[in-house]
Amino acid sequence: MCGIVGYIGARQAQDILLNGLERLEYRGYDSAGIAVMDGAKLGVRKCAGRIAELRRLTENSPLSGCIGIGHTRWATHGEPTDVNAHPHTAGRIAVVHNGIIENHAALRRHLTEMGCRFVSQTDTEAAAHLLNALYRGDMLLAIRQAMGQLEGSYALAVLCENEPDVIYCVRLGSPLVVGVGEGEMFLASDIPAILPYTRDVIILEDREIAVLRRSGVRVYDAQGKPREVKPYSVDWDAAAAEKGGYAHFMLKEINEQPRAVQGTLSAYCGSEGLHSLLDGVPERVDFIACGTAYHAGMAGRHYFRELAGVESEAHIASEYRYSRLFPHPGETVVAISQSGETADTLAALRSAAEAGVRTAALTNTVGSTLSRLARAAMLTYAGPEIAVASTKAYITQVETLLLAAIDLGLRNGNLAAERAEGLLSALRALPEKMETVLQNPQFIQQYCGRHMNTRLMFFIGRGIDYAMAMEASLKLKEVSYLACEAYAAGELKHGSIALIDEGIPVFAICTKESLLDKTLSNLRETKARGAETVCVCPERFAVRAGQDADIVWTVPDADEMLLPLLIMLPMQLLAYYMAAAKGRDVDKPRNLAKSVTVE
Ligand code: M6R
Repeated sequence: MCGIVGYIGARQAQDILLNGLERLEYRGYDSAGIAVMDGAKLGVRKCAGRIAELRRLTENSPLSGCIGIGHTRWATHGEPTDVNAHPHTAGRIAVVHNGIIENHAALRRHLTEMGCRFVSQTDTEAAAHLLNALYRGDMLLAIRQAMGQLEGSYALAVLCENEPDVIYCVRLGSPLVVGVGEGEMFLASDIPAILPYTRDVIILEDREIAVLRRSGVRVYDAQGKPREVKPYSVDWDAAAAEKGGYAHFMLKEINEQPRAVQGTLSAYCGSEGLHSLLDGVPERVDFIACGTAYHAGMAGRHYFRELAGVESEAHIASEYRYSRLFPHPGETVVAISQSGETADTLAALRSAAEAGVRTAALTNTVGSTLSRLARAAMLTYAGPEIAVASTKAYITQVETLLLAAIDLGLRNGNLAAERAEGLLSALRALPEKMETVLQNPQFIQQYCGRHMNTRLMFFIGRGIDYAMAMEASLKLKEVSYLACEAYAAGELKHGSIALIDEGIPVFAICTKESLLDKTLSNLRETKARGAETVCVCPERFAVRAGQDADIVWTVPDADEMLLPLLIMLPMQLLAYYMAAAKGRDVDKPRNLAKSVTVE
């Protein structure tokens, strides 16, 4: 969703801001802008559309100055227009904002009565006018006073002509990081924006205000008390957030999965054996998450039931938070989120904590709000994921949940040590098998070429394969805009089979021997109604699958518990090549954002 960048130093700010905004493009946005201060004079350039438009604007009318802030906006209050784009100005102040000011209407009324003139429809403009109204020569104080009046979530960056050598920023519920350079400071809502300049970052906590000068940064709490800060060194490099020769980030990230799986395994399973991933010995493990992360939770539910023998459920975060909870004394709730900033997941985690449940987070983002809210945090070691469609973060979420289930199964006595060792050694062999699948995408590419005008597709599976079918369907629809549905294989005949018509592709995902015949018989039911059927399965099922399916796609044989990790690769490639064949904006699908920070 929205992105923030900031720079103060000896270099011209304009280019650094535009480069930083480009590195945040993946978050999704529909307008962009920058404000640069030259001496004590603020200049603003902003427009609806892509950063390329903003670049054109700044080429025609450049902004000079070594201090500035920038923003990409994903419209919530008011359409994506030039006027609604950030920065917003009031008096001698310019502001960029991520998040939502919930009491903006009341503030707008009050400030209008005081004589302020609003020009945009945004909630942000209320924050700009409020700061301007409160400013009496001390911006730190004005921000602290404004914090008492602003309701909602915000990350704000502020420039003021009266203080021409400072950037102020503050956060509540929306991330902000300060990058520390030599004689220069950077600001961003997301680490990739500043990786080309520095890997030393300070992650701001909620209700903290940072004051950036060329010489350094000072961080204050809401009472104005300074906090001692020590930069943290990020181990991602800038190249990890670049395309490296691939046509799209999504394809690059799909191909990085063997390494991501290897990295996550090494982080949790060294020469001393498997680490404890969850605190204590929970008797029940529930998952809360959204979208793809929810599908990882569905797979996790299966692993915890099968391997640890504990009750487990996966919940959609936006539903969980409004449902009546029945906390179990031995329960742990694990919130799963690649970004660690998804508003629905954060709210659900807070509900679980308020109900007295032990909480844990599973995230790909060190220092994210989720990891700090939860009592304990597990990380996935996927590296930065830039494409909006989650691929490597998802695979490492499923892998980490598998490891956590193995660990709990060993500790609660549900899993024999030999079986656990068998699973771990199969996991060590997995990256090579993944490479085999990734090296041969041509048949998927050709399939997409033949089916690019298909109007509808179905994905079916049973047990954990239903979770995989859900994810395959989401991936395909979000990047290719092709209408598709996922069903528990036995459920299709209860209504949706009415949609099956001549040539509609139906994919059956089959990783479990015990469910193979049942799922194939459901596939046959669709074929009898004209569907073109595809079975995606391990090599050992190929002959059996070929008796019922028109087409069989295989992955190398592996332990049944690990097959879901392999089987998702052709499904991700299907989504990618279909989107590419249809000429979609693969890495930045329409209407979507990488991290969804509104509820
Ligand atoms: O950052 P999160 O993992 O919390 O994001 C949750 C969903 O918004 C996300 O998985 C979304 O469904 C992706 N676009 C899937 O590719």
